[in-house]
Amino acid sequence: MWVADMDFQTVPEVIEAMKKDVERGIFGYQYVPDEYYQAVADWEASEHDFKVKTDWLTFTTGVIPTIGDILRNLTAAGDKVLIQEPNYNSFYQVITNNGRQILNNELDYQDGQYSINWQDFEEKLSDPQTTAMFLCNPHNPSGHIWSKDDLEKIAKLTLKYGVLVISDEIHGDILMPGKQFTPFASLDEKLTGHSISLISPSKTFNLAVLHAATAITPNKNLRDRLETAVATNGHSGPGVLAINGSIAAYTKGHEWLKQLREYVGKNRELLTDFIDKELPNVSLVHGDATYLAWIDVHQVTDDSAKLNEFIREETGLYLAEGTKYKGNGNDFLRINLATNRSRVEDGLNRLKEGIEKFSAEK
Ligand SMILES: Cc1ncc(COP(=O)(O)O)c(C=O)c1O
Repeated sequence: MWVADMDFQTVPEVIEAMKKDVERGIFGYQYVPDEYYQAVADWEASEHDFKVKTDWLTFTTGVIPTIGDILRNLTAAGDKVLIQEPNYNSFYQVITNNGRQILNNELDYQDGQYSINWQDFEEKLSDPQTTAMFLCNPHNPSGHIWSKDDLEKIAKLTLKYGVLVISDEIHGDILMPGKQFTPFASLDEKLTGHSISLISPSKTFNLAVLHAATAITPNKNLRDRLETAVATNGHSGPGVLAINGSIAAYTKGHEWLKQLREYVGKNRELLTDFIDKELPNVSLVHGDATYLAWIDVHQVTDDSAKLNEFIREETGLYLAEGTKYKGNGNDFLRINLATNRSRVEDGLNRLKEGIEKFSAEK
């Protein structure tokens, strides 16, 4: 229950589409047809009420590879990239491995909720060396959905200081029942000309190894630069299964996703009730999105890596230690809820056993 993928089989029509591709037996170069972009646009319109123009869309072979392309080609060596800790761990590596600096605008944490420290945010944006920011919406690891007001404020301030917004929306489809999120590029066009958003079927439909993602860039000039960057680094050409698999997912996956949201929503309820009743020293950060849950264990330890290791060894339950997400992650564990109910129940019993033993041995 640690890595961010699911134990569920993908949409049956996706498997059918892939089978057809394999049975054709011809594995030459693949191109991106208009039908792919239309499928992505229709998905955004029906799932998120976002009428994205197909011209704004660019196929790429993954979110993190594209972020690397953007950093290498659209920022300069040594530039500062603002990130709001705690945050998705690969963000840190992609910044430093590409020779840029991490600039932390740490999220405030109060009453079990994260929010943005706006004063610090503006101060850090005003540093002339800050040229890009990562927005993680919905937020991994907490599952928080940034409000439209927050997004507009981010858009206005980054525009003011000339900072490129890279909005990672890979978790944007996995919303708890009845919840909605706002794609950054769906804001008023006057506020999005300095943004590149990234979406992908990989989390939504459990298709991580398909290596398919889409960049949304409203500004033509920025889009040309992005497309050059992605092509230069060899991330523009799809693999043989990526196109028809993605089209099938985006055109046939609506009902499947609805059921997934309900199932994961129930798992989240189960976790919430279990923590309330069985783990008095532990609390849960309220999350309206992602199949990940962020468990506050600060009353048990201030070293979640140690606790995580202990739980693994003692009970066989594999969670992610919050420390690797930085910020105040040393007070947290991350659990993946995209699995069968019986496995969640089993995992929760092991969590309880592990925490109780750890506390007794302290
Ligand atoms: C926020 C976020 N971005 C990107 C990724 C990975 O994307 P990709 O496999 O397309 O590089 C993940 C995977 O966990 C993630 O949580």
